[in-house]
Amino acid sequence: MKKILITGGAGFIGYHLAHHLLADDGNELVLVDNLQRGKRDTDLLELLKNDRVSLIEADLTDHKFYQSLPDDFDRVYHLAAVNGTKWFYKMPQEVLRINVLSLIYILEWIRGLSKKPKLCFTSSNEAYAGALEAFNQLPLPTPENVPLVISDTFNPRWTYAGTKLIGEQFVIFYAAAYQFPAVIVRPHNFYGPRAGYDHVLPEWSQRIARQEEPFVIYGADETRTFCYITDAVEAMQLLMDSDSTNGYPVETVHIGNTDEITMSDLAKKMFAAAGWTPQKLEYKPSPPGSVKRRLADISKIKRLVGWVPSTSLTDGLKKTFEWYQAHPKK
Ligand SMILES: NC(=O)c1ccc[n+]([C@@H]2O[C@H](COP(=O)([O-])OP(=O)(O)OC[C@H]3O[C@@H](n4cnc5c(N)ncnc54)[C@H](O)[C@@H]3O)[C@@H](O)[C@H]2O)c1
Repeated sequence: MKKILITGGAGFIGYHLAHHLLADDGNELVLVDNLQRGKRDTDLLELLKNDRVSLIEADLTDHKFYQSLPDDFDRVYHLAAVNGTKWFYKMPQEVLRINVLSLIYILEWIRGLSKKPKLCFTSSNEAYAGALEAFNQLPLPTPENVPLVISDTFNPRWTYAGTKLIGEQFVIFYAAAYQFPAVIVRPHNFYGPRAGYDHVLPEWSQRIARQEEPFVIYGADETRTFCYITDAVEAMQLLMDSDSTNGYPVETVHIGNTDEITMSDLAKKMFAAAGWTPQKLEYKPSPPGSVKRRLADISKIKRLVGWVPSTSLTDGLKKTFEWYQAHPKK
């Protein structure tokens, strides 16, 4: 039996990761979430019917909470964080406090345990996005070892990236100093059902369901990649279960898809998946600072655990649209 803690377990990645890990009868899960963003919706309640998973509603920035946690976990996936661009502008000081403090408390808690679990920390591609803005160059595809950059400390947009940058350093040096295995992952555009309502695909799903005319597309010629959530959580689990990520310094690993697609072609695929095409498209420029291309180098994860994404964009978009059609924003 493997005992696994998932912080932020009611959120997008946490929920799908829990679903994936429960497929193994030998896993017992504890999810911790303060439900700031994650919700006790029908999907989560269905998941919680399994008696090998429980949810603790708690705030990870409350240091007293850790005294009540069991001390025999084998794995900890630390996903809890405030993310979503609107929060960076609305309460940058809270983004900094919550993301950094919860990580420090998790690390201090692990440090004090006699049986130390393996830790997965979710960083972000945002941690290196500032390098492009500051120096106007980044290798494409982008490998893990590029500089992490906060291009403007006064711009609230970079608070989240700042917490990921310092978070990576905390994990690297705590793991080495207190000798516990850990891996840092940088998710690149995970998508799928139950991802909130703010990102591009959830937003398009809702506008398609309303049959919006004309259908507005921002930054039509910019390219992006999209990694379907079931592929993504499998990648995280493989990295955590692999001996190849047990050494020091800890490994930092990109998880993403390498099939680049322009936003206008993505829209066409989404219309096909939904079975509706608008009569008129309207193209508008993307917001200032938006990059033309973003592409992760995923050769490291291939080498470490042999993972490559397997869900086609067509299948993933169909599943995503169907979920959002059945779960419109309230
Ligand atoms: N989804 C992506 O493509 C993506 C990309 C880059 C990085 N990440 C990182 O992956 C992790 C998970 O992302 P997600 O997309 O599932 O986000 P999410 O917002 O859906 O999940 C995060 C969860 O953490 C919880 N949480 C926040 N503050 C908390 C606190 N103080 N105590 C307890 N719980 C708290 C929220 O309620 C939420 O359910 C985050 O660290 C995020 O920064 C995700």
